[in-house]
Amino acid sequence: MKLYKILPIIAFFILQSLVAKSQKKSIDQRVDSLIHLMTLEEKVGQLNQYSGAQATGPVTPRQSYMLNDIRSGRVGSMLNVKGVKDTREIQAQALKSRLKIPLLFGLDVIHGFKTVFPIPLAEAASWDLEAIKMSAHIAAKEAAAAGIHWTFAPMVDICRDPRWGRIMEGAGEDPYLASMIAKARVLGFQGEKLGKIDEVMACAKHFAAYGAVTAGRDYNSVDMSKQQLWQIYLPPFKAAVEAGVATFMNSFSTLNGIPATGNCYLQRDILKKQWDFSGFVVSDWGSIGQMIQWGYAKDKCDAAFKAITAGCDMDMESESYKWNLVKLVKDGKICESLVDEAVRRILYKKFELGLFEDPYKFSNEEREKEVLSDSSHRSFAREIAQKSIVLLKNENNILPLKKLTSKIALIGPLGKARRDLLGEWVVKADESSVTSLYDVLLQKVGKDRVSYVKGCDFSSVSHKGFAEALNIAKQSDIIIMTLGENCSMSGESRSMANINLPEVQEDLFEEIKATGKPVIVVLMAGRPLIFNKIADNASGIIYAWQLGSEAGNAIADVLYGDYNPSGKLPVTFPRSMGQIPLSYDYYNTGKPVKDPNQLSIRYTSAYIDVPNAPRYSFGFGLSYSNFNYSDLKLSANKINGKEKIDVSFKLSNTGKVSGEEIVQLYIQDVEASIVRPVKALKDFKKIKLDSEKSTIIHFTIDKEKLSFYNDSLQWTAEPGEFKVMIGAASDNILLNQSFELLR
Ligand code: NOJ
Repeated sequence: MKLYKILPIIAFFILQSLVAKSQKKSIDQRVDSLIHLMTLEEKVGQLNQYSGAQATGPVTPRQSYMLNDIRSGRVGSMLNVKGVKDTREIQAQALKSRLKIPLLFGLDVIHGFKTVFPIPLAEAASWDLEAIKMSAHIAAKEAAAAGIHWTFAPMVDICRDPRWGRIMEGAGEDPYLASMIAKARVLGFQGEKLGKIDEVMACAKHFAAYGAVTAGRDYNSVDMSKQQLWQIYLPPFKAAVEAGVATFMNSFSTLNGIPATGNCYLQRDILKKQWDFSGFVVSDWGSIGQMIQWGYAKDKCDAAFKAITAGCDMDMESESYKWNLVKLVKDGKICESLVDEAVRRILYKKFELGLFEDPYKFSNEEREKEVLSDSSHRSFAREIAQKSIVLLKNENNILPLKKLTSKIALIGPLGKARRDLLGEWVVKADESSVTSLYDVLLQKVGKDRVSYVKGCDFSSVSHKGFAEALNIAKQSDIIIMTLGENCSMSGESRSMANINLPEVQEDLFEEIKATGKPVIVVLMAGRPLIFNKIADNASGIIYAWQLGSEAGNAIADVLYGDYNPSGKLPVTFPRSMGQIPLSYDYYNTGKPVKDPNQLSIRYTSAYIDVPNAPRYSFGFGLSYSNFNYSDLKLSANKINGKEKIDVSFKLSNTGKVSGEEIVQLYIQDVEASIVRPVKALKDFKKIKLDSEKSTIIHFTIDKEKLSFYNDSLQWTAEPGEFKVMIGAASDNILLNQSFELLR
């Protein structure tokens, strides 16, 4: 490129960076001058966060206590206050304080505000980063229009244990996919730069490794090697920092004996020093005080000391800071500069959001009405719900169903469900606005062709409804069974020791299946369930998670082929609970089995009662199209650390309909200074291809993709052989070749 063409571009970037620097400098100066004016009590106030306070209605003692604290500058943030009216009124109280520092309003906007999108785990099954970003953006837009400044999302905890109820809130088991999704969500919620009125601050949580709680039991301890931590559990957090996430939340769990909330290694050494994170860290609800129950702090004063020293800036609801930090400073136990540092981080964000210019910036009633009734949000909810569905089985191409020709029996506890399709973390949705599958089928095929019977409850033992269900099944051509979990069977504090589909539902399936009619099972749940009888005997299986406001429409779109399913599992589905924890990137061991579908033969690393292979692997999902992979080419078979390899192959849609395929690139480091997994996802693409069309796909492999944390936790790529694998799923590698990284 000619110099005269590049010069303006360079000048533009220099100008941009100068503007950014001067903005930062001016915010720094404003923060400093404000801190200078603050009393120690007011500083501690900024670190204090309370939940809820109604602006109207009878004043309870708790409310008047909070409102009083707000007016005297002893509160920095509120959670769970939402809506323009309430946020305005509470903000007005804060503006009565001596320094008139505005409050931050935080809320768990996890998968939508008024419009509910699929649960985060379901969205991860779309592998569609643009769609995921858009979902976060719309959620932010709606929340921001209702006075919210800050969402406690995304949850970026890797989870390989479906017993943990909060698996529904994350992006699954894989550090690469989850990191890409973490970035997309952070950018979706907060955009490139804070301060716009349709974006909110994001919060990467729960720092760190909460998804690895022992035995999948919520709030439990976590013990893991530093390699595991760095290789598997930290990458999505690091990705969130790289995307500019404004805040972090620590965790209820411990890490190797130290509560995350009081963990200096996590919050100070890694997050604030190594990653240079400039935002602030909020505790989880009461987690500072809970260090007493853990047996890590003597009392709240000790807990406050440990948390602030470890780098936790804001206290959510434990009041440990409120009652103890002033005294800790006055007694010389902690330096005031420690408090100043936390205050600085919080005030900085308030300035960036523009709250000092206009504390009511996010509280405009007209805008609230307009944004919350934007019908394009619903259309998008349907789109992303379609993309999140995973087709697990399609025997003899039973799906898609031929429109209007058959009589349908809709059986199972979720056929008419609405609230259950939303999953946990619903903040403003109106249950009646959810489309149920029954409503949609009625519209689609007409009243005379659909009959509905619930058949059983989620997990009762009663078979009372079976006879009626059998009756309609016999009179129909096709049976659609809606089975799975209700919305309170997954989520926070909803861990389950038994993740088999409840027996009564499997019994109902068996009786219906015995009619000999084709049975399509639509499973809805917040986690991977185990459902072996259905997996073996159903004619078709759709995994529909909890898809949100447009669940019914999206499921029907897939059933009838108005949408060709494209989702793939972001997490492994076990066949037995004894296999948990389970992931596709296992180690080979010194005594590997030849075939993971075989039982153990002496002396191999397998079970004698259940094969190692999961029921459905990470990355698996079917389509109504068929895809063929061929012609793998590597641009080199030897590279040095500075060179790159271009990996190309041909993808053809040999099916009859146009469709989308998620092509996956895995790499194995064949021999290294620490044991490496049999394969690790390093890239993927979602490709749309018309029937009978082909395209050439390219991936680039560089040193970064070959690197890992060695025994000294250095990020390094070691010379030697690497295997490149291209597949349609982690257990369906269709092309592979090796190359060498030279010294
Ligand atoms: C506890 C949960 O662990 C956390 O994720 C959530 O953001 C807070 N409660 C606030 O509701």
